[in-house]
Amino acid sequence: MNDTFLRACRGEKVEYTPVWLMRQAGRYLPQYQAVRANVDFLSLCKTPELAAEVTLQPVEILGVDAAILFSDILIPVEAMGMSLEFPEKYGPTLSEPIRNKSAVDRLIVPDTEDDMPFIIETIKILREKLKNKVPLIGFSGAPFTLATYMIEGGSSKNFINTKKMMFQNNRLFNYLMDKLTLTVTSYLSAQIRAGVQAVQIFDTWAGVLTPFDYKEAVLPYVKKAISELKKQGVPIIYFANDCAGKLKEIRKSGADVIGIDWKIDIGDAIKKLGKKVVVQGNLDPCALFLSREEIEERVKDILWKGEAAKGHIFNLGHGILPETPVENAIALVEAVHKYSHKV
Ligand code: CP3
Repeated sequence: MNDTFLRACRGEKVEYTPVWLMRQAGRYLPQYQAVRANVDFLSLCKTPELAAEVTLQPVEILGVDAAILFSDILIPVEAMGMSLEFPEKYGPTLSEPIRNKSAVDRLIVPDTEDDMPFIIETIKILREKLKNKVPLIGFSGAPFTLATYMIEGGSSKNFINTKKMMFQNNRLFNYLMDKLTLTVTSYLSAQIRAGVQAVQIFDTWAGVLTPFDYKEAVLPYVKKAISELKKQGVPIIYFANDCAGKLKEIRKSGADVIGIDWKIDIGDAIKKLGKKVVVQGNLDPCALFLSREEIEERVKDILWKGEAAKGHIFNLGHGILPETPVENAIALVEAVHKYSHKV
């Protein structure tokens, strides 16, 4: 098996820099569109054979060094008891957003094996199919990012309801965060038991907070989940989006690998994080609209700067966009493999 990704996560020497792309299974791939033409997004997530099929697409088409389970961060939120929909063109919606104690009382901490058996089944199929290929990454949303969806009822611009709860009813906010931390920890533990070889925690919306609020209201929960999960022995990646100003705090998360978004020079990020952590990132997803030569130049720059870290896994600085030309994503993966350790 190609285990460069797992070795890089552990800070071990690798022949070349491994690469995978956040949201690598998705709408930019015609093969994904073909599967999605016959099934809605949530059903796709819940049908193990199909979820496994789309997980494998980028491994075959792009030649990436890791697969990431096809699912969504809001799947466990539905299992907690909220009703989730993905209306076409709108993004996720959760009816009856969480605004008071009785709403949090009603949420359960789901049991992955019983309440989300399709996740376990998809992982088992994938481990079998990936046996001689690449490792499988599992994932979850971070407690805070899940809380924003639950409190806002969907995506948001200013996160006013979330911040109001944090500032005006901190006890309720902490009560919700405690339930979410238990959910995230048990959900990821179940994925690890089923066979995922690394996990990534996505904190997509951590960047909307001040460093102070992040430190007070978000980091303690992330730390708690990570310290529990560490006992299971697989690498833990923490990606907090838009958090260049919070790297000193993020360093304390305890994660083995820190994801870096594209709004900071990766060399500067490494200086802030120190030599003890492995980094993952950080090409601007829109760089994939440049020419092949220009993509190569940006890849070389990131690879060169990445050499200063304990280890480097190449990735985009956030998810790949649906408009991305597939040939440019292929060119990116080729360039990372070709130029790593040579620039
Ligand atoms: O990385 C992968 O290939 C694995 C699959 C994956 C999806 N969502 C599939 C998806 C992963 C890891 C996610 C995580 C996720 N989901 C995040 C965190 C990552 C990030 O981008 O910051 C968030 C915030 C969500 C919530 C979510 N899901 C939103 C806001 C949307 C709508 C916006 C959009 O991109 O369409 C989704 C839908 C979604 N999740 C799609 C896919 C492939 C598109 C659904 C479709 O086929 O129509």
